[in-house]
Amino acid sequence: MISASYHFPKGFLWGAATAGHQVEGQSKDSWSAWEDAPGRILNGQKAGLACDWWGGRWQEDFDRAAQTGQNAHRLSIEWSRIEPEPGRWDNEALDRYREMIAGALKRGLTPMVTLHHFANPLWMEESGSWEREDSPELFERYVCRVVEALKEDVNLWITINEPNVYMLCAYLEGVFPPGKRDLTAAINVYANLARAHARAYHAIHRIQPQARVSIANHFRAVRPETASPLDSLAANLMQRAFNDSFPGALRSGVLDLGFKRISIPEAANTQDFIGLNYYTLDQVRFNLLKSRDFFQTRRFPPSAEVSDTGFIANVPEGLWLALKWANRYQKPIIISENGVEDADDDLRPRYLIQHIHQIWRGVNFSWPIKGYFHWSLVDNFEWERGWSQRFGLWGLDVETQARVRRRSVDVYEAVCRENSITSEMVEQFAPEIFKKVFPA
Ligand code: BGC
Repeated sequence: MISASYHFPKGFLWGAATAGHQVEGQSKDSWSAWEDAPGRILNGQKAGLACDWWGGRWQEDFDRAAQTGQNAHRLSIEWSRIEPEPGRWDNEALDRYREMIAGALKRGLTPMVTLHHFANPLWMEESGSWEREDSPELFERYVCRVVEALKEDVNLWITINEPNVYMLCAYLEGVFPPGKRDLTAAINVYANLARAHARAYHAIHRIQPQARVSIANHFRAVRPETASPLDSLAANLMQRAFNDSFPGALRSGVLDLGFKRISIPEAANTQDFIGLNYYTLDQVRFNLLKSRDFFQTRRFPPSAEVSDTGFIANVPEGLWLALKWANRYQKPIIISENGVEDADDDLRPRYLIQHIHQIWRGVNFSWPIKGYFHWSLVDNFEWERGWSQRFGLWGLDVETQARVRRRSVDVYEAVCRENSITSEMVEQFAPEIFKKVFPA
């Protein structure tokens, strides 16, 4: 067996990603209200205490991250806590976040802060949410408060997490609050999210000129199932509508949905880096009968290994496609999320190694890839799927709040500490993929 290693550049960020509603607990926001209504969440579950970060357990989880070689952490701030009523600002909540971020820095974790991750203040949700014409302004006002308070300690900002997923799940599929299935509302919201990002981008730079600002782009890799031109057309349509439209608007100032173009000039050139969330890849087939589904059927590649609840296929080449795509923007790239739900931690060690290996391929091409944030640090509340999916490096016993160290912690720790993938690591943690990662 060969002995070799794949090295990452000095200063590479290795961390995990979390989001407020999913880890904090005791939230009063659009999601907690949604969880209270019957039939919304799998098995009627609720976030409840979540990982009890609002009760202070972020400290022990940051200890875990830092003690296992991580040097960065992506967390989010909840608008609902900062502005619990319109125009009323909760300085104690801001202080709590300030303390959390200082706690990250003290432990050697560079913070990357998300300002919107799927949850809204209740008052915002109940008064029209992102359909409100003034939603971009309201968001900007909140962002200014947060950035003024944290500008000494935070340099990396994600304004909005996955606008494409949020728009799809909340306004087309109806599985996120407000549960709409309304194309006109979806388009309106999508445009408002771009306007809100643009306002936030410019405001952050006014307050903190050296800040680096982006969104977390969810890239769902697609490829045509066969060589048929119709399958290519279907894959292309999906690529453009889902993956390209939003970041395209942040480059050109035009939100191009294929059947509709919306001009948002203030959004042009508003990503300082590309935040990239990648989980899996779909094969796409043209299907005339599926008019509601943009004339296509999607499925995972039949040869790919699928995760324990069937949510994710392990297709590392999809991350390669995502990186190639991101690199076209000619900006630094940060993988802001990547992971798999895997309660017994059987797939995760190889998923981790194979995906980090794809990142190294990009690094080896001298692409400006600056960091990797694994989703997630500890099992947390998985939106409409409740507690049924376990994405953590550490497992969580929701009743007792006990954390259980999974083998993947050792894998990731080895990568973070060595700043590389070595043949010894692969031999130790995932010998079954040795030849794929280190072909002789
Ligand atoms: C979201 C996370 C979520 C993860 C796994 C991403 O789309 O940003 O909040 O937990 O997927 O479902």
